[in-house]
Amino acid sequence: MKKVSIIGAGNVGATAALFIAQKELADVVLLDIVEGIPQGKGLDMSEASPIQRFDVKVKGTNDYAAIADSNIVVVTAGMARKPGMDRLDLMHKNAKVIEDVSRNIAETCPEAIIIMITNPVDVMTYHAWKITGFPKKRVIGQAGVLDSARFATFISMELDVSVEDISPMVLGGHGDEMVPLPRYTTVSGIPITELLSQEKIEKLIERTRKGGAEIVGLLKTGSAFYAPGAAVAQMVEAILNDKKRILPCSVYLDGEYNIDDIFIGVPVKLGYKGVEDIIQVNLNSDELSALQNSAQIYKNGIANLYKK
Ligand code: 2OP
Repeated sequence: MKKVSIIGAGNVGATAALFIAQKELADVVLLDIVEGIPQGKGLDMSEASPIQRFDVKVKGTNDYAAIADSNIVVVTAGMARKPGMDRLDLMHKNAKVIEDVSRNIAETCPEAIIIMITNPVDVMTYHAWKITGFPKKRVIGQAGVLDSARFATFISMELDVSVEDISPMVLGGHGDEMVPLPRYTTVSGIPITELLSQEKIEKLIERTRKGGAEIVGLLKTGSAFYAPGAAVAQMVEAILNDKKRILPCSVYLDGEYNIDDIFIGVPVKLGYKGVEDIIQVNLNSDELSALQNSAQIYKNGIANLYKK
């Protein structure tokens, strides 16, 4: 049986664990520094398994020894936003958490693939890559799958069509400057530019950019977790089942799209080895400059994090 460990047993970690278990993708280890929470949530999920009929083990722990031999380690540890905060406001506090988590991962499962969820995700993915020293194909940030799911949801609401027919594409960093791509977002192969007015599309893009904040504003005490948890499970499935899915993920760029030395969202092929390819789609000058503009924000974030 394959094994996925999830660091951080808060709402995102626990929801990701449940989706992964329900799909029987792997045994799941839920790790948190708080005593009792991961054990309690793990046991509770196990007790759901006879009813939901999933045949994998879910175990909670405070001990990093339990994550040894994981195929994938999902990192959700750290603080979430409160209303009015930007994800980058979390950077310094969460960087300390990620430093500790990354050292533990490097020590206990040096062969694992890391999926980073903690915000600001593009900077935290870079940080984990630096600290673990893992090859770039084994360190992946989440956001594109989540942001694309939000874009697809809003398109389906607007057009009153099934979400199943929508193939969305959102690139860039996980922040207000993300880059939804209407030309590459289709409904059964039809670009949304042929189905919706420019004005409507702009509204859906704006809602997508602020999608995380919309949930934070409603919940008030935390951020989204169902969609982020589902996005984790989709990425885990693509990797463990070697599906070679093309999904937007935050990955290390080394000159692709004329961007280098940062992690940012672009379409990649996800398979058993992790990031198996980076797809370079043709962008027009507006799309490319939007992507580079988004990239610059995270370049500045990294420079700020590492400034002496
Ligand atoms: C979101 O967009 C938490 O960043 C995450 O909901």
